[in-house]
Amino acid sequence: MKAAITTTAKYLPEEVLTNKDLERILDTNDEWITTRTGIRERRILRDPKKATAYMATEVANSLLEKRGISADEIDLIIVATMTPDMIFPSTACLVQGNIGATNAWGFDLSAACSGFVYGLHTGAQFIESGNCKKVMVIGADKMSSILDYEDRTTAILFGDGAGGVILEAAKEDGYGVLDARLYSDGLNGPNHLLMSGGGSLHPASHETVDQRMHFIRQDGRQVFKAAVTAMADVAVEMMERNGLTSDTIDWLVPHQANQRIMHATAERMGLPEEKVMMNIQNYGNTTAGTIPICLAELDEQKKIQTGSNLVLVSFGAGYTWGGVYVRW
Ligand code: ACO
Repeated sequence: MKAAITTTAKYLPEEVLTNKDLERILDTNDEWITTRTGIRERRILRDPKKATAYMATEVANSLLEKRGISADEIDLIIVATMTPDMIFPSTACLVQGNIGATNAWGFDLSAACSGFVYGLHTGAQFIESGNCKKVMVIGADKMSSILDYEDRTTAILFGDGAGGVILEAAKEDGYGVLDARLYSDGLNGPNHLLMSGGGSLHPASHETVDQRMHFIRQDGRQVFKAAVTAMADVAVEMMERNGLTSDTIDWLVPHQANQRIMHATAERMGLPEEKVMMNIQNYGNTTAGTIPICLAELDEQKKIQTGSNLVLVSFGAGYTWGGVYVRW
C-alpha cells in the first residue's frame, strides 16, 4: 500500500521583516526584490534561545493535535534541515524528546531546499515496506542564523519557518505518494551554493569567522539557470511518467525560491497560474520548509480534497532536485 499524507501543519515565527526593513540595512529596494524574486516580506525567529528544533517541535505538536493521536504512536521522525540546532545530536532527536515520542527513531536529512521532497520519498518507503505505521516528515530552517545581513544577494531571499506532514498507509489503491524522481549533481552544484565554515574541512576558528565562512554563499545567476531547467524538466517528467495533463493536475507545489522559476516551470507544464501554489511573497525562501508550508496552507484553505492531483517539485544546494506526485 502507498503512503498517504494524512495530516499537515506549519509554523511561522510572528516577526515580519519587510523589504522596506531591509532597505534600512542594505543597499537594496522593495522594487528590485519584488520584481526579481516575488518576495515582499519574510518571517524571522529573533529569540536567540529558539531555533530549528523549536519550530520543528511546534509543527510536530500541531500534527499530533490535528491527527488526534499521542506522540507514542509515531514510529519515525525525519527532519529535513540545513540549519540544525547543532551538528549533533540530530534535530530529529531533539524533536523526539520535546514531544515525548518514546517509540520513535529519527534522523536529519541534508538536501537543502530539496530536503522535504527527499524526506517525503524516504518516509514513504518505510510506510510501503510495512516497517512503520506513522511517520512524521518535517522541513524546518532558521535561515536567519546563517544569513549575512551585509550581503544583499542572499539576505533578501530567505526567511525562517517550518512545515510537516504525517504519512500513513493509504486506505485505497491509487492514492497517496504515487511517484517520485529525485536527483543530485555533486559535480556542478557544490561551488555555487554553500556554507563552507563549521564542518570538518573548515572547523570554526577565528579565521573562518573573519572570512565570514559561517554564512550562506550563492552564485545566484548560476543557481537560477540550473534551477529553472531542472525544476521544469522534473515537473514535465512527472507528468509524462504518470499520464498527467494540465487539466488533471490540480496543484503544482513548487519550492519557493523565486517567482520567476515557478512561472517558468508552470509554463513548461502548460499549467495556468491559478494552479501554482505560491506564498513566496509572504515568507521568502524557507528552504526545507517551503513545500510543507504550502501543503499546510492549501489544506487549511480547503483547496485540496480527496482525489486532488499534486505535483511537488524542488531544487536546492548540492545540487539536489526532484519531483513527487501525490494523489490526495
Ligand atoms: N538589491 C538590489 N540590487 C541587487 C540585489 C539586491 N538585493 N542583489 C543583486 N543586485 C544587483 C547585482 O549586483 C547586479 O548588478 P549589476 O548588474 O550592476 O552587476 C544586478 O542586481 C543583477 O544581479 P543578478 O544576480 O544577475 O540578478 P538576478 O536577476 O539573477 O536575481 C537572484 C538574483 C534573485 C538571486 C536570482 O539569481 C535567483 O533567484 N537565483 C536562484 C536562487 C535559488 O533558486 N536558490 C536555490 C535554492 S536555495 C537553497 O538550496 C538553500
